[in-house]
Amino acid sequence: MIATTNKIEVQKVEKSRINEVNWSDLGFGKIFADHMCVVEYTDGQWGRPIIKPYGKLEFSPAISSLHYGQAIFEGLKAYKNSDGEVFIFRPEKNAARLNKSAHRLCMPELPEELFMECLAQLTALDSSWVPTGEGESLYIRPHMFATDEYVGVRPSGSYLFVIFSCPVGKYYTGEIKVKIEPAFTRAAKGGTGHAKAAGNYASALYPAKLAQDSGYNQMLWTDAETHQYFEESGTMNVIFKKGNTLFTPALSDSILDGVTRDSVLQVARDWGYNVEERKVSVTEVMEAIEKGELDEAFGAGTAATIAPIRVINYKGVDYTLRPYTEWEFAPKVSAFLDSLKRGREADAHHWNKRIV
Ligand code: COI
Repeated sequence: MIATTNKIEVQKVEKSRINEVNWSDLGFGKIFADHMCVVEYTDGQWGRPIIKPYGKLEFSPAISSLHYGQAIFEGLKAYKNSDGEVFIFRPEKNAARLNKSAHRLCMPELPEELFMECLAQLTALDSSWVPTGEGESLYIRPHMFATDEYVGVRPSGSYLFVIFSCPVGKYYTGEIKVKIEPAFTRAAKGGTGHAKAAGNYASALYPAKLAQDSGYNQMLWTDAETHQYFEESGTMNVIFKKGNTLFTPALSDSILDGVTRDSVLQVARDWGYNVEERKVSVTEVMEAIEKGELDEAFGAGTAATIAPIRVINYKGVDYTLRPYTEWEFAPKVSAFLDSLKRGREADAHHWNKRIV
């Protein structure tokens, strides 16, 4: 269980909005729990966190995050079991990654203990907002952004760290169709692809819209220099399976170190699969599909968890994989992780942190 202290000031809502929620139509990211946690950074230090009613923040249009993109975020999920216990999955990975992102964007690091305290107290306070249906969870969004009211380009001296949460259903419903991206890039060597920087997502919007306009959910991103090697899929990592081997692009400065990616690969190793983290070429995957040897391809991310890929478009041609219902690994790991996150499996790696 994550220890909490009284260091956080708590201002509770007068009346919860929970009875206004249509629990049968959660969607993703459109409903917000009662409270949020806010911590200010000024004069080189983090102030006292405040948990207060979720609502609007007020700031000047000149704050530097709005202009130069000093903004980073994280995503993690809380799950509730039938005994009402609430768990968060591997939050220390998110705390560490937030700080990697902060470092790359010249922002202050947040002490892991502070991150955990804010996360645990906020989630405990809003634990009645954690939904329990299949594919449902409380999606938690910690983020940090620059608040200096200053128009010149320089690292901001002041920041806000904020956490809010949303009861959510599935991010994708069913199998997805993706398009191998031949020209646009998500991230280049030396860039910010390994950071969870808001700007990475902004620059992906236009290519994603083009893909969506032609009937695909997302793209399969390729490397910036040659477009010959896979990087990620949309907002997720991508993992392929052939026989007893799972293979995925190795982490680099252009690939996000996804918590779901890491968890899936670890479970695969635990179960005796071969796991290869290496360069994965477009040619290799397309040839495997043509020979009927590619058994599975899926996106792995916190929001989407496991997103099975049914169709891959390459140079204008759709290549179709077998239906998800016939796959062996992805459905099994997806069910296992879901069950583990609800505290129903032996937690060999101590990934689950109990909140309530
Ligand atoms: C996540 O998987 O948490 C993400 O960051 C995807 C998000 C952009 C919805």
